[in-house]
Amino acid sequence: MAGYPKRLRQMRSVVALVGLLVAAPSLPAAGPSFATALAECTSCHGEAGVSRNNDTPHLAGQVQAYLVEAMLALQKGRWGTSIPWHVPAGYSPDLIGQLAGHFAAQPQPSAAFPADAADSAAVERGSQVYEARCTGCHEDQGRESDRRGLDRPRLAGQPQVYLANQIREFLAGRRPFRSYLMARAYSGLTEAQVEDVALFFAAQPTQVQPEPMASASGKRRRLMH
Ligand code: HEC
Ligand code: HEC
Repeated sequence: MAGYPKRLRQMRSVVALVGLLVAAPSLPAAGPSFATALAECTSCHGEAGVSRNNDTPHLAGQVQAYLVEAMLALQKGRWGTSIPWHVPAGYSPDLIGQLAGHFAAQPQPSAAFPADAADSAAVERGSQVYEARCTGCHEDQGRESDRRGLDRPRLAGQPQVYLANQIREFLAGRRPFRSYLMARAYSGLTEAQVEDVALFFAAQPTQVQPEPMASASGKRRRLMH
């Protein structure tokens, strides 16, 4: 029966929920082990947190404090999500911290996804939207969001469909703006601009290649500056 494993999963969650309801308030809820939870997450977010689906974000190398916030928001239903029991109620703050720490420590994917999707004219239009509206909070083409120790997500190299969907969630009010400035940055964005700026971020490399250090030519290039 094709739907059986899924049904089993749902039943398991219902059992977990009932378990939570009958447990005495002083007893800690028995959540899954780290390994079991991790396997759930990576079934969609990819091995080591590098997603293979254009609508699913990479978690690898994401800002740790942001991942904690995001998981709590998903757990408490503060963000709309397409995934039932995305971060189940039974996950303890400790487990959420462990998962966030694990994914944050994984290397970011080096290539944009999908690597060949970048239409250069659209990326250029997206770059103009970025320069006009988004630079203040998503510095360095979306690579350095945690530069000042903030809990903003890195956007560079995230899948385009995922990014565009989230921008629409903000515009539609299903995901709350965190500040007036953020709301103002989005004000009046057209659907075409949403697509373009999402593609701009998706097309950015997650790391800028450092200049060759040891070679003589590298030294010469630096001296010329
Ligand atoms: C069935 C597929 C699926 C599973 C399982 C899943 N996710 Fe997700 N996740 C998604 C998709 C798709 C999104 C994009 C937005 C949405 O629909 O929630 C997402 C979004 C997220 C985000 C938001 C990222 C950001 O940059 O804002 C976080 C954090 C996250 N998932 C963590 C987890 C964790 C932790 C687990 C395991 C407990 C998990 N997910 C399990 C599919 C999944
Ligand atoms: C005033 C600061 C600010 C400005 C300006 C801003 N953002 Fe953000 N952005 C944030 C913060 C903070 C978050 C995390 C929000 C949350 O936790 O829900 C975020 C989250 C996002 C996300 C969700 C990423 C994810 O992984 O879920 C996207 C996409 C995004 N911003 C795109 C943009 C775009 C496009 C612009 C310009 C049009 C922009 N932002 C301008 C502060 C800002």
